[in-house]
Amino acid sequence: MKGVILAGGLGSRLFPLTKITNKHLLPVYDRPMIFYPLQTLINAGIDDIMIVTGGSAAGEFLRLLGNGKEFGLKHLNYTYQEGEGGIADALRLVEHFADDQPICVVLGDNLIERNIRSAADDYKRQGKGAKILLKKVPDPERFGVPVLEGSRVLEIEEKPKTPKSEFAVIGVYFYDHTVFDVIRTLKPSGRGELEITDVNNHYIGKGTMTWGELEGWWTDAGTFESLLRASNMVAETGANKI
Ligand code: DAU
Repeated sequence: MKGVILAGGLGSRLFPLTKITNKHLLPVYDRPMIFYPLQTLINAGIDDIMIVTGGSAAGEFLRLLGNGKEFGLKHLNYTYQEGEGGIADALRLVEHFADDQPICVVLGDNLIERNIRSAADDYKRQGKGAKILLKKVPDPERFGVPVLEGSRVLEIEEKPKTPKSEFAVIGVYFYDHTVFDVIRTLKPSGRGELEITDVNNHYIGKGTMTWGELEGWWTDAGTFESLLRASNMVAETGANKI
């Protein structure tokens, strides 16, 4: 399985911190944000990785990470997203890299406490379709929220005003090679983006989506509050425990 980190976008919710740099280069406690999703993939046993970035500070990722030697990697792949067309627009750019293999996609501003290796192994056994991970949160309206019936996910609603469950869909996704065909069918949402939630709803509609519940803490780091929370959580308990 190949790994993808999506680290494009303008990070406008963190302006002016992101006026001259990319959100994923900002510090989270003692490391740049991008270190955490990279470690998430490596801990899951995934070492063939592409980073999608963008904006005027894209070159800084090369200066920071190089070929990933500090992480024990032999090589790192990079690609560049023009503008801020959405998460699925960024994912579109890795089609050539994925080369018909399954992929694990991690959003560049998502941090986790533990290891997703067992979810990755479950997905490998699943063999096709997609898999998402859910986490109970106090503020689901900030995220993609699953509508659940028993253990079945009926649909995911993106940032619903009245969430139908207490879960958030976290920014770790497993897809088969058909994900790029799905992205080609998408239309921009109300916020002008190609939404990953639309991709996930497509798999749900086909009956090929599974889900798991993430163990340990999870947070995004894309707002002032969550960036502070991420730093505090890493300081208090550490992240990416094997
Ligand atoms: O954090 C999990 C949530 O991430 C999910 O629950 C939501 O369903 C999903 O839509 C997403 O929500 P956000 O609105 O918080 O995503 P955001 O725009 O902050 O983008 C998350 C990451 O995706 C960002 O750190 C970099 C990458 N990205 C985003 C955009 C819009 C790109 O690479 N390119 C983009 O154009």
